[in-house]
Amino acid sequence: MTGIEYDDFIDTTYAPADDDLRCRFYLEPADGMSPEAAASRVASESSNGTWAALDVDADVERLSALAFGLEPIDPRGRGGEEAYLVDVAYPAELFEAGSLAQILSCIAGNIMGMKAVDRIRLDDCEWPATIVEGFPGPQYGVDVKRELLDADDRPVTATVPKPKVGLPTDAHVEVGRQAWHGGIDLLKDDENLTDQGFNPFEDRLVRSLEERDRAEEATGERKGYLINVTAETDEMIRRAELVADHGGRFVMVDVITAGWSSVQTVREHCEDLGLAIHAHRAMHAAFDRLPTHGVSMRCLAQFSRLAGVDHLHTGTVGLGKLANEDTLGINEWLTGDCHGLRGVLPVASGGLHPGLMPALLDHTGTEIAVQAGGGIHGHPDGTGAGARAFRAAVDAAAAGEPIEDRADAVPELAVALEKWGTETPR
Ligand code: 6PG
Ligand code: MG
Repeated sequence: MTGIEYDDFIDTTYAPADDDLRCRFYLEPADGMSPEAAASRVASESSNGTWAALDVDADVERLSALAFGLEPIDPRGRGGEEAYLVDVAYPAELFEAGSLAQILSCIAGNIMGMKAVDRIRLDDCEWPATIVEGFPGPQYGVDVKRELLDADDRPVTATVPKPKVGLPTDAHVEVGRQAWHGGIDLLKDDENLTDQGFNPFEDRLVRSLEERDRAEEATGERKGYLINVTAETDEMIRRAELVADHGGRFVMVDVITAGWSSVQTVREHCEDLGLAIHAHRAMHAAFDRLPTHGVSMRCLAQFSRLAGVDHLHTGTVGLGKLANEDTLGINEWLTGDCHGLRGVLPVASGGLHPGLMPALLDHTGTEIAVQAGGGIHGHPDGTGAGARAFRAAVDAAAAGEPIEDRADAVPELAVALEKWGTETPR
């Protein structure tokens, strides 16, 4: 037997093993708590320690996490107090295979509320193959562009009808019809539209897919409807099955509000149903908005890829209406190597319009989806014209042609550029 105490979970000489999960935390120790003591408590509480000393077998001690990095950082960059970057290594055996809930209860669980730290934020994780192997990753991911759509060398285009809730089914379906015929690939629901009385799920599904079929025939391009199936898990599965029964190829899930376990369950069913999952991240900012506390969007994106969503919203590099975030770093992680998992297609959304396409694609390249609501439906000549303008701008920017030249041939684009120019909405 050996004693394990709160202060024993730090060893800055430890070199992590290949199959350790490594987590980087931003940490502000509480008043009177040394950084070493605070870091050790984080490793302890998130693995197998507690406030009281315990006598344990060597087999149990083996499962302890260790803080192996402790580096003071200038807290002013984040507006915080005395702060450190703390690296913690977790033995892979600590984790149940394929359970995001269990992993998060360790690495982002009790430690978020410990008195020993004033603030703590899970900034980044390095995932070993042993843990990644337990997860399916995306079924289509980035390849959705080619496998389910015809958007090989340009970004996928998408739109969400506005107002986000309140449109009756007729009007909602009509917006989709105009957008698809105008050249948009994907119609999506908004995050708070599911199965309300003014626009019931099944009716909207059936009628939208009928319009999708007509649009595919008219344009010669494959189209998709990202219908929001978010609900209690069994109901979400029932809705996904309905989508497949009616010939849909996509579902949308609000992954944070629905919860990771239900996302994992839906992912399993979507494998059998052949459906791609569009992940909406509503509520992510409750975790990631404060730079000094919570869980970073980068980590939320990592959980999303492990759980196996196909598309994920990751911001607009500050060009749109939302606060700037680490869009490019996150996109790189989502599409880079991760022990053989497919990459997730990043979605840029929030305040986008045609004039912003060249600058956006300069940053992101074309392996993304671009989504606009107001930037399509707010066109002076309506949704159909807005869709044509948006698609023309995306095509031109993807081909490296000036969008002003394209506007000579596409009057709807000229009108959009006249109205919005290259403004960044806020
Ligand atoms: C979504 C997101 C969000 C929002 C956009 C699009 O559902 O896709 O919640 O991205 O709906 O901001 O709308 P605008 O293009 O009008 O900003
Ligand atoms: Mg929305």
